[in-house]
Amino acid sequence: MKILVATEKPFAAAAIDGIKEVVAKSGNELILLEKGTKADLIAKVADVNGLIVRSDIVDREVLEAAKQLKVVVRAGAGYDNIDLAAATEKGVCVMNTPGQNSNAVAELVFGLLVFAVRNFYNGKSGSELKGKKLGILAFGNVGRNVARIAKGFDMDVYAYDAFCPKEAIEAAGVHAVDNQEALFETCDVVSLHIPATAETKQSINYALVGKMKKGGILVNTARKEVINEPELLKLMAERDDLKYVTDIKPDADEDFKKYEGRYFATPKKMGAQTAEANINAGIAAAHQVIDNLTTGWNKFQVNK
Ligand code: 3PG
Repeated sequence: MKILVATEKPFAAAAIDGIKEVVAKSGNELILLEKGTKADLIAKVADVNGLIVRSDIVDREVLEAAKQLKVVVRAGAGYDNIDLAAATEKGVCVMNTPGQNSNAVAELVFGLLVFAVRNFYNGKSGSELKGKKLGILAFGNVGRNVARIAKGFDMDVYAYDAFCPKEAIEAAGVHAVDNQEALFETCDVVSLHIPATAETKQSINYALVGKMKKGGILVNTARKEVINEPELLKLMAERDDLKYVTDIKPDADEDFKKYEGRYFATPKKMGAQTAEANINAGIAAAHQVIDNLTTGWNKFQVNK
């Protein structure tokens, strides 16, 4: 069977080596498409049985071109890049690789945070994370890793997750709060780890972020769609104490850049851009595709 790895943002070389080895051992054929266009993807996907992608768009058009496709694995956590309804209609199983790249994203949260509290390394005296209240919005794999690392910084850690019971949060040694408003009110820093869904899109808005105390820092390593950008810009204009740091460039990047010293975005989405995350997620994806094609294994199916 044919398995296509199609990534606009290529995996690290070591991850590709690992994927090649897993696919070769299984007796299947690997096709690699790196930095391709949508037209390249549509052409390559025509006769493959399995597809591995990162944030690459797998929409109805791609799925319709993929006549032999049985399984798509998104090597990573968020699967908002895949048209699940179209995949389901076509009988294609869609999976992600939960947890495989979460440490990388969590580490970058702290890279961004230290940068922010030290005034973006402009030489001026900054502050420390120790003793500050960190709020984690959504306590999934990334959120849990953020909590673990935050304890190393001696931060006071809080979390809210609409789908995770308070007891489970407390069991991880983290204070559970009742709702997201309480998280923003309580914490000096809020780190977003919610997926982009109909409920969460645009949900990080003026009213919510406006609840933060003086000197509040918002960290976004989730999706840009969860932020209501015009409202956040309005708030930053009104409150010169707020900082916004992110690994996903907002649509209104140029407008945010006006807030020099209070805004920073990495040039490309970087949270999961490590060799280790690529190796973990890429190899897991290769195993998942093969297991699905050979036995129908679908533990991490997201379009059930
Ligand atoms: C994810 O959802 O796993 C992260 O956003 C990483 O995405 P990437 O693989 O496209 O870097």
